[in-house]
Amino acid sequence: MAITTCVFDAYGTLFDVAAAARQAAAEPGFEALANTWPELAGHWRLKQLQYTWLRAVADAHCDFWDVTQDGLDWALEASGLQGHPALRQRLLDLYWELQAYPEVPEMLKTLNSGGMRTAILSNGSPPMLNGAVQSAGIGDVLDGVLSVESVGVFKPHVHVYDLVPSRFGCARDEVLFVSSNGWDAAGASGYGFVTAWVNRAGEPMDRLPWKPAHVLSDLTTIPQLAGL
Ligand code: LAC
Repeated sequence: MAITTCVFDAYGTLFDVAAAARQAAAEPGFEALANTWPELAGHWRLKQLQYTWLRAVADAHCDFWDVTQDGLDWALEASGLQGHPALRQRLLDLYWELQAYPEVPEMLKTLNSGGMRTAILSNGSPPMLNGAVQSAGIGDVLDGVLSVESVGVFKPHVHVYDLVPSRFGCARDEVLFVSSNGWDAAGASGYGFVTAWVNRAGEPMDRLPWKPAHVLSDLTTIPQLAGL
């Protein structure tokens, strides 16, 4: 079936999750991050995601903002920076205005003007996603911003992927689902979406029962993949 709907994961896919630590490291007062920001950013992201999976299997859902803070607290302590409240606050503030990857606005514009439906499907809470969408200036080229908060469980639960057909009334195989998270692309493949895994870092493929249909190094070829 032809693709009618392109759906994007948010964090790590449209928005650069390492940008907060990278930017803080360059600001006065946060020199402690100068050499350690990549490690801090990696720990922060990994723990944030682990907490989503653990809370999903333990049936202990909370808002993505809570796991984002919990992940940061773990990462700061791992780097010996737990006694630095100004740094913690700055990193959290920056998370609300993450930069989009450079090719994102043009790619979404091409999809939009080509008649493709476009949406975000994310673990992020609605206020977090609105902040990121506004700061990236991409609100006018998105037909929907779907948050797991409307089903109360994190990805890769099928109730999350169900939000797309429910919202747009489309078949699963009309959806091109794009994620930089291998496990998210895998889960969406298992659900029945056509999937693209954006593997910017050249990571090995996750050993899960489902594989992405496409593996990309950035988002520039999404319009062609969608058939435009
Ligand atoms: C999201 C996380 C998984 O945006 O990156 O859903």
